Amino acid sequence: MSKLILVANWKNHPSSLEEAKGLLKEMGKKKELYKKLALFIAPPLPYMESVSERAASFSKLAAQDITLVPKGNYTGLVSLDILKSFGARLAILGHSERRAMGETSEEVSQKIKAVLRAGIVPLVCVGENERDKDGDHFEFLRGEIKQSLAGVSKQSTSSLIIAYEPVWVIGKSAKDALLPGDLAQSVIFIKKVLSDIFGRNTADKISIVYGGSVEPTNAGALVKETGVAGFLVGHASLRAKWLEEIANSLISK
Ligand code: PGA
Repeated sequence: MSKLILVANWKNHPSSLEEAKGLLKEMGKKKELYKKLALFIAPPLPYMESVSERAASFSKLAAQDITLVPKGNYTGLVSLDILKSFGARLAILGHSERRAMGETSEEVSQKIKAVLRAGIVPLVCVGENERDKDGDHFEFLRGEIKQSLAGVSKQSTSSLIIAYEPVWVIGKSAKDALLPGDLAQSVIFIKKVLSDIFGRNTADKISIVYGGSVEPTNAGALVKETGVAGFLVGHASLRAKWLEEIANSLISK
């Protein structure tokens, strides 16, 4: 992706459609800014139509997850076909909040292949639960990346995005987020693992974004010289002004 990436992961928010529309209205005022980025909005499913109606001129729609069920009778589940018909262009896969609910890296790898077949961009989340001084978290990361990407062909990686999200910094605040130096180190490590899997040339082309307590006050430092191609933003994406400031930090990288 040639533009820097900004993914707004709304999770289970805002708490009403009216609030979602209000947020989209505020975001729309900065559409010229957002057009300079590859902005994706991943709303709760019932808000998808509103997002595509109101934000199509400056963003693309994303899914927070997918299910692997085919067409058919599966009460409570929404198939990839339906998501695609709404215009979903990217799918967040393997988010730590899904993994905490029992999703395995094997399931993540099946989901990656399914979205690739559907022509949707897979944004695959990886990240250690905790950091330790001995660097054991790097081994955890290596295993998670290898298992999640198992069976993904080299040819299909052109649209693959990796989101590095250390679980221990998600949903906190800028002061608790990862330090830029540590992020740069992790990005180098992830690139090395991707090189081992796909070869250096292919790995160099895979975008790595960062997520975990990105806020206006740390966005600038987290994108400068850390090797990331953008951000996956949770709570800060629910505040129009904050998202605008984060977008500005990316633009002025
Ligand atoms: P956060 O969430 O920005 O609120 O830490 C990021 C994420 O979970 O994707």
